[in-house]
Amino acid sequence: MTPTDRAPVDINALDAVLAPLGNSRMLPAACYTSEAVAAWEREHLFEGGWVCVGRAESVPGPGDQRASRVGRTGVLLCRDDDDVLHVFANVCRHRGHELLPCDAQASRPAVQCPYHAWRYDLKGALVQAPRVAGVANFVPGDLGLVALRHAEWAGWIFVNVSGTAADLTEHVGALAGLLEPYDPGSLVLAATHRYEVAANWKLVHENYHECYHCPQIHPELCRVTAPTSGQNFAAGQGGWVGGTMALAPGAATMSFDGRSHASPLPGLDAARRRVVLYAGLFPNLLVSAHPDYVLTHRLDPVSAGRVAVECQWLFSPEAVDEPGFDAGYAVDFWDLTNRQDWAAVESVQRGATSPAYVPGILALQEDAVHQFVTMAARAYLGAPLSASGRVEAQR
Ligand code: FES
Ligand SMILES: [Fe+2]
Repeated sequence: MTPTDRAPVDINALDAVLAPLGNSRMLPAACYTSEAVAAWEREHLFEGGWVCVGRAESVPGPGDQRASRVGRTGVLLCRDDDDVLHVFANVCRHRGHELLPCDAQASRPAVQCPYHAWRYDLKGALVQAPRVAGVANFVPGDLGLVALRHAEWAGWIFVNVSGTAADLTEHVGALAGLLEPYDPGSLVLAATHRYEVAANWKLVHENYHECYHCPQIHPELCRVTAPTSGQNFAAGQGGWVGGTMALAPGAATMSFDGRSHASPLPGLDAARRRVVLYAGLFPNLLVSAHPDYVLTHRLDPVSAGRVAVECQWLFSPEAVDEPGFDAGYAVDFWDLTNRQDWAAVESVQRGATSPAYVPGILALQEDAVHQFVTMAARAYLGAPLSASGRVEAQR
């Protein structure tokens, strides 16, 4: 790695982050507040990594299209007539207009640019360009949409804009086996909520990875899961951090009264029906697997101090087909919990912008936070995610 691959972060401050838990400190303030750091992250962690752009079922059939974003790069998801998913740069080959506004969806037999009506087929080939006769350097075969590297895992679509990341299976690593009993690929979307949070995207991860804060801000959550229950997974294979928490006696899931209103996910053994599995796959997907549903948070940084968060609730097809099915018991519980968390991380963001801010220390209960900031700090030093999933520091 060359120094140019390093983030514009005070290298010496990262020594304290990389110290063992018990002697470590959090990231320096610039990691949360600097637009230069945010720009570096967009290029290296998002465009250079595997970013989740949503569920495969969001583009279910031929002609279905959806625009999303990875770092600085607008991406267009498009399913062709053979049901093959393509991911293109959302940039017209004429003069660069977006083919579809970010987050918009369309269902149409071709991709048509709204600016001058250049038209592409569903595989990305240019098939129409009005009134270009006589243009000597108009070569349609050279003007197809730019295809981006992508892969699917467990029903989620991931994009690697740089084309240089290790395989997605290596990045997901051991998390695939941990989630396999939940069979996320078979689940269907029941609800989506979108938030914009006035905090750095990493604060959402850090907050997600500890329940040290739960007694103070989540009284409802603490009724169905004890904040000190469960344990975090040791650093293992894959670019993720996670752990479990135990459901309280009498609670079947995370809801206001602990009751579930959906059948449990098939394939879970007795032990898995008593826990919730929480995992953050670097850099932008949080997966919370409950006995009866899987909740995800998908993060899209807007700036150093803002992040768009898309929450989705996935259930088994059987549960969704049950008469009177209503995901509200899960959605309302987590919507409240989310808002409690957003208030906390927005406050931390304001604190991090204060000249008085000094990176704090971590309680031992915050070991998963330590794992997360260790990954971030090593990435700042220019280390790619290794085959073992954990980034190797190179100083
Ligand atoms: S920019 Fe797309 S047709 Fe002109
Ligand atoms: Fe929380």
